[in-house]
This record gives sequence, C-alpha cells and structure tokens, in this order.
Amino acid sequence: MSLEYPSHIAIIMDGNGRWAAAQGKPRTAGHLAGSENIRTIALYANAHHVKSLTLYAFSTENWARPEEEKNYLFKLPSMFFKKYIDELKRENIRVTYIGELTRFPEATRKVIENAVEQTKMNTGLNLCLAVNYGGRREIVYAVNNMIEDIKSGKIQKVDETMISEHLMSETSDIDLLIRTSGEVRVSNFLLWQIAYAEMIFVSCAWPDFDEKQFDLCIEEYNHRNRRFGGLK
Ligand code: FPP
Repeated sequence: MSLEYPSHIAIIMDGNGRWAAAQGKPRTAGHLAGSENIRTIALYANAHHVKSLTLYAFSTENWARPEEEKNYLFKLPSMFFKKYIDELKRENIRVTYIGELTRFPEATRKVIENAVEQTKMNTGLNLCLAVNYGGRREIVYAVNNMIEDIKSGKIQKVDETMISEHLMSETSDIDLLIRTSGEVRVSNFLLWQIAYAEMIFVSCAWPDFDEKQFDLCIEEYNHRNRRFGGLK
C-alpha cells in the first residue's frame, strides 16, 4: 500500500528517561539517543516530502527538571548541529524554531540561530524545534502581539486567521500529532494548531521510534476519516 504523508506532523518525543532506565543508563543517555533519533526521523520525513515536522524538544514546564539534566539538554543542540548541519544542508532541510530562546544559555541560543541562518534558503522539510515552548504561552504572546497591532491601528477586529498569524512562528495547522512512550496527553503543545489534528499515541519510547514505527503511524493516519466537523 502506498502511504500518503501528511503535510505537517508534530511529535512529542517522550520516554527518553524511561528508555535509559530500562538499560541501566543515566537519563542523559536517553536524551542523547533521542537527539540522534531526530536525524533519523527528519531525514525520513524529508525523503517522503513532509512539509513540516515540529518536535517538542524543551517545554516551558521542563525548567522544573534538575539542573544537571537541563544543562545536558542545553548542550544537545551544539552536539547535534556540529555533527549533522552539513547533512541537513545537503538534504535541503530548513531548520526553524518555535518558543522563547532568550532564557537559554548563549551558546545554545547561538547554535540554534546559526542552524536557522545556515539553512534558511532550503526548500525541503521544515524541521521546527519547539524550545522553551508552551502552547498557552504562545497564545498569550499572540494576544499581546495583536494588542500592539490594534493600538497602532493595523488591525481593527480579531478573527481566527488573525490569531494564527500572530502566533510565534509561521507554524501551520497540525495534521498529525504523535506522542511516544504511552502517555496520552497533549502537555501544552501547539494548543491552537492541533484543533483538527489526528492524534496517535504509541507505546514505544522516542529513541526506539524508527522509520517503521513512523510508517505505522502514517498508515493509521491514512485510515482515519478526517471530517473537520462535517460529514464525509
Ligand atoms: C521527554 O522524555 C523528552 C525531553 C524532555 C527532551 C527531548 C529532547 C530531545 C529528544 C533532544 C533535543 C535535542 C535537540 C538537538 C533539539 P522524558 O525525559 O520526559 O522521558 P521520561 O518520561 O521517560 O522520563
């Protein structure tokens, strides 16, 4: 059966810690394996002409984690882009981000901004990293953004399109939201953009979520009857 890949896929990459614990390794080993898996899934999605892949890399709630774990997570983008930026460029993948980078250490911020800059002309997959991201915070951001435009007379009335346009990035609506590791929650991810998303929750941990698992999700997505509130 030939699969039809959705245009925008979002993934909550959960289960790194449990994956590591199951192998008697520290949680950081799970995050490292998880970050390697970003490459696998991004290349695969790109090869199948998925337009956007938005990955939850660090939520506004993740600040509550132990310092040691956070510090490791902050180092991962440097390690990742050092290793893979050339390949991403070659593969025509464009890196973007959504969220507030400002609270991150300067080195982390710079490395992400640099990856965005170096790939901005690419026309393949938009690999969007959600970093220090929270869906509610994004909606608050959009509201404040619109207040500014109302004050300056740029807009008079707010509608749905206007809210979409005032969010943190050009992020389009999500077609398919996947969460790994068996949790069945949205965890403040892309709250506005998932209004009509199909959701798939898989039991395997993010580091084990390979191309085959990805295709099983696409197959299930292809069987869903997306009605958008209408009758079909
Ligand atoms: C959730 O698993 C995962 C995270 C909070 C971090 C996700 C980050 C990455 C996969 C790597 C980011 C790297 C780059 C290059 C952006 P968990 O720790 O909550 O797992 P658990 O529920 O099993 O404890």
